[in-house]
Amino acid sequence: MSSFSATAIAHPNIALIKYWGNRDHAIRLPSNGSISMTLGDLNTQTTVTFKSSLGSDELTLNGAPTSGSGLSRVSDHLDVIRTLADLSFKAQVVSNSNFPMGAGIASSASGFAALTLSACSAAGLDLAPQELSRISRLGSGSACRSIFGGYVEWSRGENDLDSFAYPLVDREYWMLIDLIAVVEKEHKSTGSSQGHQLADSSPLQVARVEDTERRLHVCREAILGRDFPSLANIAEEDSNMMHAVMMTSSPSLLYWRPATLAIMQSVMNWRSDGLDVFYTIDAGANVHCICSPDVEDEIKDLLIEIPGVQEVIRAPVGGDATLH
Ligand code: DP6
Repeated sequence: MSSFSATAIAHPNIALIKYWGNRDHAIRLPSNGSISMTLGDLNTQTTVTFKSSLGSDELTLNGAPTSGSGLSRVSDHLDVIRTLADLSFKAQVVSNSNFPMGAGIASSASGFAALTLSACSAAGLDLAPQELSRISRLGSGSACRSIFGGYVEWSRGENDLDSFAYPLVDREYWMLIDLIAVVEKEHKSTGSSQGHQLADSSPLQVARVEDTERRLHVCREAILGRDFPSLANIAEEDSNMMHAVMMTSSPSLLYWRPATLAIMQSVMNWRSDGLDVFYTIDAGANVHCICSPDVEDEIKDLLIEIPGVQEVIRAPVGGDATLH
């Protein structure tokens, strides 16, 4: 029996300018470019072993054997990599994350980045990070940003070959902290992949997409200039624009819980009181509160006091996806 194995670790990321909607769903060619911050301490570790003896792909997620749509999505992604490597062996995939799945912390981002890196390495492909990012995108759009650490931009691109992410600045450049206020732990009813398909049904999506270059520019400049107030304003505006599209799509997607709104309002008040903190929310109810390290203890204590906040997960800016 022959087998080839590799293990990779990747971090999730939080988008400051969000990806929402695709021009081509099959290859995840996004409607707009996006910018994110990679989240350290949180990670997904994935081992891929291609074996001649396997009759089909196998997936174990956080200790549980997984079949159905979860396995097919992984298998489809492995097919892309098998085709590139001219390999026919099926694979055993074992993946573990140290943060709650389906709770607004994109496990698909770290998951598909770690899967891509480990599977490509096990298959003997020696690829540049840009190509690893492009391939990750096919598994989950936001995963293309998790190949890189620090602050990362994913350019929308014109076609399959030129839509990938690249680093803007590394983590040491600006050590912001993400305090994730968890208000809901169960799996969200409509996942991102289904949500992207509804984006164009909102009359607001056209305006949101048309305005993206402006938001990307302001966000990029704010990061390069370590300009907290400017980053705070643009990230909150962008998050609100995406949620406006979600709420006005058919069917409507309303991810917020009462505690979500309570946190948003508190964060805005704290910022007007002089604390460096802003909110951003992905396709879920949990609120990412991005702050500077000097106020993190104070913000954490304040967040825990808000009714409905179950726990606060801390993540500093993280590094690149790596092989182990
Ligand atoms: C709201 O990358 O999870 O988090 O490509 O279908 O896997 P798929 O979607 P996904 O979408 C992320 C949406 C978002 C915003 C973002 O991360 O940019």
